Amino acid sequence: MEGFIEVTTTESFEPGTMRAVELDGHKLLVSRVGDDYFVTDARCPHIGGPLAEGELNGTVVTCPSHHSQFDVTDGSCLRWTDWKGPVLTIAELVQHPRPLRAYESTVEDGKVLVGPQKPQGAVPE
Ligand code: FES
Repeated sequence: MEGFIEVTTTESFEPGTMRAVELDGHKLLVSRVGDDYFVTDARCPHIGGPLAEGELNGTVVTCPSHHSQFDVTDGSCLRWTDWKGPVLTIAELVQHPRPLRAYESTVEDGKVLVGPQKPQGAVPE
């Protein structure tokens, strides 16, 4: 598919798992949900936590650092850290909640391909 680049294969890629890959020095996260594969940035937009070391539940990845949550289908931010009260308020002032960058993806002949960036996902109100 034109404009799409191979980032990994489907071999030994179990449903409900994630894989960190690197493409031209850019760290990407490939998540398998059922038979679908989704590609996002691998670093948390909060302060760069390694999302591949977090948890994937359905389409939601939880960052291992401060437990922000993102939907891997479109990068929407579902939760900005698990901090509460004044700590969260200050954290949001210092750094506004941001979505995760998500990319078009497809599978061809056992290869997961990544394409252009998707429209920006949502952030919590
Ligand atoms: S670095 Fe991911 S929640 Fe803080």
